[in-house]
Amino acid sequence: MERMFEGYCLQTLLHTLVETATTGDKLQPPPSRAEEDSRRPRPRGHSSGNFRDHLLREFNPKPLDQYHDLDDYPVVTDMYSNRALSLLMMPPRIFMLGATGYLGSEFLVLLAHTFPGYPVVALLREPTSQRIAALSAIHPNITAVEGTLDSGDVIQRQAAEADIVINAASSDHSPSVKAILQGLEKSSLARPGQPPLYIHVSGCGIVSDDARGEPVEHVQEWSDIGLDLNKCPPTNMHLECDIPITKAGTRTDVPIRTIILYPGQIYGVGEGIQKTTLWLRIFLDMTKKVGHAGTWGPGANSMNNIHVRDAAEGMLVVLKAALEGKADEGAEGHYFLTSMERKVSYREWTQVFGDILHTKGIIKEAGTRPMPPEVVEPLGHYGWSLLGGNQFTKPERLARLGWVPKHSAELSLLDSLPAAIDVALEEF
Ligand SMILES: NC(=O)c1ccc[n+]([C@@H]2O[C@H](COP(=O)([O-])OP(=O)(O)OC[C@H]3O[C@@H](n4cnc5c(N)ncnc54)[C@H](OP(=O)(O)O)[C@@H]3O)[C@@H](O)[C@H]2O)c1
Repeated sequence: MERMFEGYCLQTLLHTLVETATTGDKLQPPPSRAEEDSRRPRPRGHSSGNFRDHLLREFNPKPLDQYHDLDDYPVVTDMYSNRALSLLMMPPRIFMLGATGYLGSEFLVLLAHTFPGYPVVALLREPTSQRIAALSAIHPNITAVEGTLDSGDVIQRQAAEADIVINAASSDHSPSVKAILQGLEKSSLARPGQPPLYIHVSGCGIVSDDARGEPVEHVQEWSDIGLDLNKCPPTNMHLECDIPITKAGTRTDVPIRTIILYPGQIYGVGEGIQKTTLWLRIFLDMTKKVGHAGTWGPGANSMNNIHVRDAAEGMLVVLKAALEGKADEGAEGHYFLTSMERKVSYREWTQVFGDILHTKGIIKEAGTRPMPPEVVEPLGHYGWSLLGGNQFTKPERLARLGWVPKHSAELSLLDSLPAAIDVALEEF
């Protein structure tokens, strides 16, 4: 998304959204993994290594770090106090990219609720005290490290120290994905037998057709079961990152566990830091500049959608399943993150969008019509692929894990628009 819109002042747009009054604050660096481990109290009579080895040898059929719940430990809890055990269990360390974003911060809310003890290090490009405080208000055990997606060294170092990396920052920024994978290789080498986990957020753009907004008689519907990225139209967005991630997740030497999530059109007002979805912010900015709402071509194209809460819950379901060793990973680790609620064509939602903005007096023209070439052409193939194509998907892997997108059933994309537009207008 980010790459697609870089020609359209996205950076300026997002800058306005995140600008805060506070400057010059010093960022506390996150503790190194060694520091974190050394601060952990040890039970009397055991060096950490011996006790850990003892547990592993005697009781533990899978790596300790994969246990996140004391209930999973019946035999061990008989022998040692819960406290000693929970200290030894070493909650997995998470490195997160995109923690302040719409999907990322919604997920962080749920993560904090479910696993408050898991330390999280967040990559933060503007580490003002206000933004750090906003993260800490959500998660009790979070620290931030300063960097952008282009800070390859920072990303690689943090990934190397992590057990889990969650990337909800960009589906298309290859250098940061490369740095993550390089860091995770180091993590894998440092902890043999306990391969680290990479959860990457991509998008359904991988299956987009080339409809260019025109009606299409038959649109292929893709299942995530049996999904082979090499069978997707090769020039589609996101594949440049997703294919190397999948390759890393399928090799046997220096193993990395990989999972890729493919959200559809995410909507609704979020509960995290960034409360409105990326496409709404972009279309709002674009519509104000052009003076009318619009589509790529006639806008007959559509895709599956998903309420942001359901999307975040889907991420958590997958994380939990992975921690329990129950998730499909690597070659099988592809999860569409979409509901099966009614798909809404671009023409239909931009019509409602344009009418609302017109009623509010923000634009002079109601309704929608195709965007002019000066908007469409600079985005070229990427724009046509994402905004002019159909993306029909079935989230069968998440369904198998028991995930039900109930918020999407309760509030449709079209019904979410009035409140989401109000919040987005306040954000600007
Ligand atoms: N929203 C959707 O409908 C949708 C649909 C399909 C796929 N996706 C994908 O899901 C992911 C998250 O989307 P979103 O809607 O949550 O986007 P978002 O609200 O714009 O959040 C992006 C997050 O990434 C961070 N980020 C972006 N560029 C960065 C950079 N250069 N350096 C450091 N941090 C950077 C942002 O930090 P700041 O807070 O500093 O801006 C923010 O935390 C993206 O990969 C997107 O393509 C979204």
